[in-house]
Amino acid sequence: MHGSLRQWRRAATVLLAVGRAHPGPSPAAAAEDYEILMLQRTQSSGFLPGAHVFPGGVLDTSDSSTDWLQVFKPYHGPPGFGLTSFGRPRESYPEVPFESQTQSHSLIPEDVAHRICAIRETFEESGVLLLHPAGAETLHLPRAFVLPDDLASWRTRVREDPRQFLQLCQRLGCMPNIWALQEWSNWLTPFVKKGGRRYDTKFYICCLQEKPQTFLDMIEAIKCEWLTPTEAIKKFEDEEILLVPPQFYEIRRLTQFAFLSDLHKFCLDRISEGCERWLPITLLTLDGIIQLLPGDELYREDKDFLENNLSIHKKTEEIMGKGKKIHRIVLHSRNNYSIHVTIQPKYKHIYPENYSGFKSHL
Ligand SMILES: *[C@@H]1O[C@H](CO)[C@@H](O)[C@H](O)[C@H]1NC(C)=O
Ligand SMILES: *[C@@H]1O[C@H](CO)[C@@H](O)[C@H](O)[C@H]1NC(C)=O
Ligand SMILES: *[C@@H]1O[C@H](CO)[C@@H](O)[C@H](O)[C@H]1NC(C)=O
Repeated sequence: MHGSLRQWRRAATVLLAVGRAHPGPSPAAAAEDYEILMLQRTQSSGFLPGAHVFPGGVLDTSDSSTDWLQVFKPYHGPPGFGLTSFGRPRESYPEVPFESQTQSHSLIPEDVAHRICAIRETFEESGVLLLHPAGAETLHLPRAFVLPDDLASWRTRVREDPRQFLQLCQRLGCMPNIWALQEWSNWLTPFVKKGGRRYDTKFYICCLQEKPQTFLDMIEAIKCEWLTPTEAIKKFEDEEILLVPPQFYEIRRLTQFAFLSDLHKFCLDRISEGCERWLPITLLTLDGIIQLLPGDELYREDKDFLENNLSIHKKTEEIMGKGKKIHRIVLHSRNNYSIHVTIQPKYKHIYPENYSGFKSHL
């Protein structure tokens, strides 16, 4: 158990969605009226090198520092901090052992700490500051906060020492805009090899009124792109970008919303529903890889598969031919995934539709 204790870490990430001002140049770009922020990780990164991801990162103990109480006072405080979210994963399977990343006996709930983490990491990686000035009125669709030029060096300070984020908020008289983030999903890193780093990552959605300026850090992220969901999928299939399965699944899920206003309303309507937490199980077939998601009839709620792949002496196509309860991502190759879903979503959520490639639709 000791090895795995050091293995699991909590993390948070944000799908930042903003309205697109002008129709895009290609049909793929025009499929949705909004774009999401994607960052390309450096090739030297220890986790997902070169992949396009949403901004985010791992929880720091400072994200649950009791000093945050001062920042939120007198507007919000424990227990709920003005949030109407569910705040914890819906399912009990699987339980994963964490290394300590939160301050013990902190009055900052885990959900709030995750949101602070997501906002801090978004600032570090993209320069976008999701802050709410204390006392300002709450906007239906929030704006990002513009950091005064003379405070630009704070980003480096925060990156070098996450505790500085609290100082920055105090100095600006702002609170992290934890209310602008809506719970969307929760993914556990699937098993790859014994001892490999694994994350329990909360995915939030944040719909913004206007596109904020981004500033790359060139340390964790080397490229920053605003893409419509359909455009991101097309770039992946055209081998221009690399997406890992959870990001691919989430972007496909977003293609169900053509309009930012619908996406925003959907998030608000299910604000207190919470999310399922998913551990994909890798099923190795004779000729390929399938990631099984909870609800799939081949999925096993069995601790053995926390640290093992599943394998079967059949070809992918043989398995796909039959089955009623299906919830899986098929990895055909590095830039060719398909999604198969026949089960009904839970907690007022939506799942992606079946999808087997952009080109196959032409
Ligand atoms: C488990 O499956 C992954 C494919 O997702 C593969 O890269 C890895 O090597 C497999 N691990 C073992 C121990 O078989
Ligand atoms: C993706 O893989 C499937 C299954 O092998 C294949 O039928 C399909 O043509 C591939 N798509 C592309 C764009 O290569
Ligand atoms: C989705 O794909 C699965 C498996 O390939 C299939 O059984 C199901 O009928 C498909 N659903 C729709 C709506 O096409």
